[in-house]
This record gives sequence, structure tokens and C-alpha cells, in this order.
Amino acid sequence: MEKRIPFIAANWKMYKNQAETVSFLKELQSAVGPCTDREVMIAPPSTALAAARGAMNLPGYHLAGQNCHWEEKGAFTGEVSGPMLKEVGCDCVILGHSERRHIFGETDDMIQKKLTAAFRWDLLPILCVGELLPDREAGKTFDVVSLQVKTAVQGLTREQSQKLIIAYEPVWAIGTGKTATPEQAQEVHAFIRGLCASLFDKAIANQTRILYGGSVKPDNVDALMAQPDIDGLLVGGASLEVSSFQRIVQFQSVEK
Ligand code: 13P
Repeated sequence: MEKRIPFIAANWKMYKNQAETVSFLKELQSAVGPCTDREVMIAPPSTALAAARGAMNLPGYHLAGQNCHWEEKGAFTGEVSGPMLKEVGCDCVILGHSERRHIFGETDDMIQKKLTAAFRWDLLPILCVGELLPDREAGKTFDVVSLQVKTAVQGLTREQSQKLIIAYEPVWAIGTGKTATPEQAQEVHAFIRGLCASLFDKAIANQTRILYGGSVKPDNVDALMAQPDIDGLLVGGASLEVSSFQRIVQFQSVEK
């Protein structure tokens, strides 16, 4: 099986100004050092991206936007484009986060256009998918996740699908302190990998990194990362403090 390099991502949402971003990144990098056996990604608010870029100087660290529009430029008040993210030094972008879907009304079709655009601008997309609590309770988790993935990846080339990162974030576990159990997460991750095998092929599915997100904390990180199909994490609340995010980045390594 293809070795998948662990990918540990921080989604800061609408937290941290420029000064807080710079001091966090200095402290984190001096605590963790360069990353070679894992990759770390930080997604600060747009206003702190340039400051973050200036403060990131070690190998193995990526800088991400939390969203981007599919057009290069235009009359889209409040939006940021892929080339704009590139200009401030981003190499990644989070797309389809549940807060974008459920608070701001993003649809699967919009996310599909954003995904294609991200690749066009040479940004590595982290595609977020996940079911609401009523979906899970109605036994519709696989249907929901399947539709989200299938729609979003339409039109990707083979080369693009090889690079794609998917984050499974059950909406009921985000910011609630209610983590999916490692077994619940593993079940959906394995399903997503199977879906990638049918949409792309088995070789691509084996190398696709699938991250888990939703109340990841220092005390559950090792059990989550021990699951065979969990290749990394997308962390909200616990990524805002250096000490807790450092512990998550330094999850206890397990041979898979
Ligand atoms: P929490 O870790 O705060 O639950 O947030 C998860 C998330 O939304 C990451 O994108």
C-alpha cells in the first residue's frame, strides 16, 4: 500500500489577528521544528495570511485560505480568488467547509467549481464533506457523503484527483466537544476510500489522504490517528493554542 504522509491542518476560522498569528507561528515552529515525516497546514483568516507567510520559515508547513471563489476576478463583493491567495503565499485552500455550506449556503455545484478553480491556480484543495445529525440518525451518512464527494470531483483530471485531500467532518462533531469515535470515523473514511476507488481507481484511492475533523483534541488524537484510513486531521478549536496543537501535530506515531 502507498504510504500516506500524515497531514495535520489547523482551521482558525474567524480567530486571530496578525500579531497573534505571527506569535503563534513562531512559537509552534520553535516547539515542533521542521516537519519531514508529516505535513502541517495553517489556515488563518484572510487578513492574517500575508503576516503568516512572513512568519513561516521551516520545511513541511503549508499556508491555506479558508475558502476561495472560482473566478479569477470580478464583481463578487467579499470574495477572494485563487490567484489572490497565491499572491499572499498560500499553497492550499479549504473548500466546502460545513460552515460555508450551512451558514453561507454553498452548494455542491459551487464547491465543484471551486475545486476545479483551485487546481487551475495551483492550490492544493482540502475538500470538506460530512453529514448533519439528522442525516446520521436517519442512516443517510453514506448517501450524503457520497453525493458531496461525487459532485465535487466532477471534471477533475487523473493528475488532479491524485493530489486531492478530503476531510470528513461530521457536522454534529464540529465545535460540540462530541467527537466521532475512532470506529465511527474509520467506517466513513473506509467508505470514502472505496468511493475514490470507484470514481478514480484503486491506486489513487490508496494514496488519497482522508483527514478527520470534529472536536479533535490532544486526548483523542492518538486513537483517531491509529485508525487505518485516518491520514490526518482538520482541527478547529484545539488549533488555537500552541500547546494543544503541538500535541496534535506530534501525535503518537503508529505504523499502519
Ligand atoms: P472543532 O475542532 O472546533 O470541532 O472544528 C472542526 C472544524 O470545523 C475544522 O475545520
